[in-house]
Amino acid sequence: MSDARHPRHASRPPRVLTAALPIGLAVTALGALWALTDAPPADDVAPPVPMVAAQLPGVDRTTVDAVDPCAEPAVMDALASGDDEAVISAFGGGTAFRDAVAARNAPCISLTDPARRWVVVNKASAVAPAEFEPEGLIEAPIRTTTPSRLIREDAATALGAMAAELETSGAGAIGMNNAYRSYQLQVSNYAGQVSSQGQEAADLASARPGFSEHQTGLAVDVVACGDGCGEIGAFGGTTESEWIAAHAWKHGFIVRYETGATGTTGYEPEPWHLRYVGPALASAYHEGGFHSLEEFFGLPAAPDYAH
Ligand code: DAL
Ligand code: ZN
Repeated sequence: MSDARHPRHASRPPRVLTAALPIGLAVTALGALWALTDAPPADDVAPPVPMVAAQLPGVDRTTVDAVDPCAEPAVMDALASGDDEAVISAFGGGTAFRDAVAARNAPCISLTDPARRWVVVNKASAVAPAEFEPEGLIEAPIRTTTPSRLIREDAATALGAMAAELETSGAGAIGMNNAYRSYQLQVSNYAGQVSSQGQEAADLASARPGFSEHQTGLAVDVVACGDGCGEIGAFGGTTESEWIAAHAWKHGFIVRYETGATGTTGYEPEPWHLRYVGPALASAYHEGGFHSLEEFFGLPAAPDYAH
């Protein structure tokens, strides 16, 4: 993706964590990468991490070798408590957290943990375990247009507040088409897309079972509503869609599949598909001018499945 699309990020100097944290233990970037990918180290190959990390946008060796924030008791306590915003705060905020993860300097942070607000699910990183079901699912606090009314509670609270502010601001009204989708529901959704438009087109619009972030309960598809509500495909170009693109980050959401990011995400633009990452990360994402979670966390583009 072109750097011209996120000039603030491109021009920003690399950050080093020591400004935000007390001195802790230094770690190797190798150990950090295993924590991020959950991949076991291979004994018979040279460690590839320093070269990979040095190639990441906005990352240099000083960041890779910086103090390990995971050595901080406040970070580990927050992780153990399950309070994701407290973890990010203990890192020094959303941007410091992002920078540490992108620098492979956060070995206690797993981007594959489906219960965390920072989880990355894409065509290269499936939901694991495959039958994962999130805790804390509740009915959406706004009107819904399909029987899929469940959403994770933290995302639900934010969705309700966002919908209320959108309405108060005069941008119209939104409803929820769906949010949490089980593995089995994704099986039928994806099969329906393949049968109606063929596999190639389906793969640009629908995740294969086990590869949808809807399964985490943190993704929500919104629609514009007047007397009735529209379909997701009609959301782009509405006043509601424009408002969401400009303001959703204030409520902890990002538009996950943007125009121009298909080469990174593997999906056609979906202005209706919002992903809850929480206020701290959404602010850092917005302020950094990012356009995909892959870019944000310095991950490789994931346009295709491995198989
Ligand atoms: N439409 C998105 C990519 C999903 O199926 O999760
Ligand atoms: Zn969606």
